[in-house]
Parts: sequence; structure tokens; C-alpha cells
Amino acid sequence: MTNNLLFPLTEEHEMIRQTARDFAQNEIAPIAADYDESGEFPFETIKKMGEMGFMGIEVPEEYGGAGMDTLAYVLALEEVCKADAAHGTIMSVNNSLFCFGILKFGTEEQKQKYVRGVASGKAIGAYSLTEPMSGSDAGTMRSRAVRDGDHYVLNGRKSWITSGPVADTMVVFAMTEPEKKHRGITAFIVEAGKPGYILGKKEPKLGIRASATSEVVFEGYQLPVENRLGEEGDGFKIAMTVLDAGRVGIAAQALGIAEAAYDASLAYAGEREAFGQKIGEFQGISFKLADMKTRIEASRLLTYNAALAKERSKTTGERFTLEASMAKLFSSETAMFVTHAAVQIHAGMGYSKELPIERYFRDAKITEIYEGTSEIQRLVIFRLETGLK
Ligand code: CAA
Repeated sequence: MTNNLLFPLTEEHEMIRQTARDFAQNEIAPIAADYDESGEFPFETIKKMGEMGFMGIEVPEEYGGAGMDTLAYVLALEEVCKADAAHGTIMSVNNSLFCFGILKFGTEEQKQKYVRGVASGKAIGAYSLTEPMSGSDAGTMRSRAVRDGDHYVLNGRKSWITSGPVADTMVVFAMTEPEKKHRGITAFIVEAGKPGYILGKKEPKLGIRASATSEVVFEGYQLPVENRLGEEGDGFKIAMTVLDAGRVGIAAQALGIAEAAYDASLAYAGEREAFGQKIGEFQGISFKLADMKTRIEASRLLTYNAALAKERSKTTGERFTLEASMAKLFSSETAMFVTHAAVQIHAGMGYSKELPIERYFRDAKITEIYEGTSEIQRLVIFRLETGLK
């Protein structure tokens, strides 16, 4: 069974892990398959997760959060994702992509106005960077925000917005001075449902199906100047800093998916018999399980290390980009490796919707894609190591 032999936890961290595990196994695991099938957004459980403090774990209590540290966030997210990665996606966007960015770059008024609702799970937050023609190359966005007196007018089409269809507020990135390229990008806090805010097509997805994803289109949307996050031109650095935080969360999500698939595989290999013995007694299966376990523990070390680096950065101000990218890269590829092996070990039952194994496999894939593909993580790691571009 998965454990923490290589990384002893404090009593407080063990407690948050156990609380999250109990909640996830009792409240989320039993409904995960139905929500995966229907693709409905799990409002009820998200509300409960908010009440438990899971939607703003690192957010100080004065802004409606649980006031804990990054490791606590990672441990809770890992447990939620063991039960259902889609719930984990919603949780990670609220915590990392929305609350973290506003806490780090926002004014006191912005924190008071926008963080509290999302951190307590009463509101849903989102992060709006990607566009149809601007994904990995995030500095090439076409959305425009033009200042007009005390407000900006926003036009553009954003795509692949996690929680887009249900978001109450989102951090949106747009060009204010396109001639300056990435240095001409500015971040804004946008409220949903106002004139000029149009929900675009909803994405039918392979996995994390209960997490709603859509395009969001802005047509002459008016933003008060006080909703600008940071200064004009700060947007790209804000986007990258927030993604560093997000990637620590995705590493934890991938770890949780991998653990769930491994635990199920280990149990199945000890029960299922073929040719007169347990299938786990065949070297073909036992070696797979040994590789799965080893990669999971390596992912855990990288992920918890990235959490500690992010926590340190709160006092030192130092970037944790390298730690975050390495953790996300390795954990997401581990999740794919482990879930692929889990389907194979379960064979026909792994391919059947009667068990969650095929869902783990489908859910794992997104962790290699969103918040920066594996190729982008490799590029980031290489550049940081060499200083080359
Ligand atoms: N923190 C702070 N600043 C950073 C930074 C970081 N992690 N990374 C780069 N910067 C700064 C650089 O120092 C540089 O600053 P100057 O302008 O002062 O020189 C500036 O940003 C530009 O950096 P680069 O020249 O390295 O930029 P680039 O254009 O080559 O791109 C990249 C770098 C790493 C490829 C970046 O574009 C990237 O991460 N792309 C992937 C985008 C991504 O992850 N998208 C996912 C969207 S969110 C999502 O998945 C949806 C969801 O809802 C979950």
C-alpha cells in the first residue's frame, strides 16, 4: 500500500491528509463514476469541500481560507485526486490559479472582494490564458484590453478554461500593448455574467469529465481600472508565476491518480488467479508493480519537495520554477505509466467501466497536457539548467 516511508510527515500534516482521505473516500469516490459518465459539475461536493477549507488551503483565514501551508495543500489535493481527479482539478484551479495569483499580486481591496468567496468554495474561480491560436506559446495572445478613462474594454476569445462554464470570477490575460509582445500583456480580474461576457462552446473531454471546460468570449466587456491585477505589462510574469504554483498542484493530482491505480492493481494481483496461481506471482506482473511503486515514490519526493520550495518562496521571494516543472513532468508521466500498467494488469476488467481503472487512465492523460505540456516542462528545466534559450 502507498505510504510515506520516504517522507515523514508532521502530526498536523498527517491530520490534514487523513481528514482529506476520509472525506474523499466517503463523499467523492462513491459518486465519481456517475459524474464522469454524465459530465455534470459536482456543485454539492465542491460546496462541502469549501466548507472543509479545501478550496483555499493556503489562503490566510482573514481572506476566508484555511491558513495552512503548501504541503498541506498538496497532501489534501493528492487525496482528493485518489478518489476523483475531476474534483481535484476544480480544487487546484480555485487554490492555485485563482487565489494564489490574487494573493500574490492583488491589492487589499481585490483580496477582500474576490478571494474570500472562492477560498470558501461559495464561488468558483478560473484562469483564462489560453486562446485558440495561443497555447504553449502563451506570449502570442490576441485578446485586447484598451484603456478608456476609468475602465478597459476587453475583446477576445479564450479557450480551454477550466471551470469556465460555472466560474463566478476569473483572472484573464490580454494584450494592452501588442507591439511589446509578452511585455505588453496585462492581467485582470473579470466577473462572469456581465454584458460582453459570453460563454463559448463547452469542450467534450476524454477525462476529468466532471470538471467543466469551455471557451469564454469577450465582446466589448467593460472592466473598471481597479480590476487590473498588477501593473500594465506585468501580465506575462504574473501568468508564469501563477503557473509555477499550479504545476505543483498538478504534480499532486498526478500522484493521487497514480496511487489509486497502483493500490487497485496491487490488490487485484493478490486476488486474481490464472494458471493455478495469483497473477502477482508472475514476474511479468510483479516487476510491473515494483516499477509502479518506485516511480510513485520518486514522484512523491519531487512533488513534496516542490511544495516545500513553494512554501519557502513565501519568505525568500525566490522562484520555485525548476522544482515545480520537474515535479509536474515526472509525476504526470508516472501517472500515465502507472495507469497504463494498471489497465494491463486488470486486463478486461481494466477496460471495463465497472471498475475505475479506465477512468484513472483517461484522467491521467490531461496531467501531461494542461498547465504546460511535458515538452514545455522539459524546455523550462533545460533553460533553467543551462541558461540557454
Ligand atoms: N516566473 C516568473 N517570470 C517568468 C517565468 C516564471 N516561471 N518564466 C518566464 N518568466 C519571465 C522571463 O524572465 C522573461 O522576462 P523578461 O521579459 O523580463 O525577459 C519573460 O517571462 C519571458 O520569458 P521567456 O522568454 O522564457 O518566454 P517564452 O515566450 O520563451 O515562453 C514558456 C516561456 C515557458 C514556454 C511559457 O510560455 C510557458 O510556460 N508556456 C506554457 C503555457 C501554459 O502552461 N499554458 C497552460 C494554460 S493554463 C491551463 O492549462 C488551463 C487551465 O485552466 C488549467
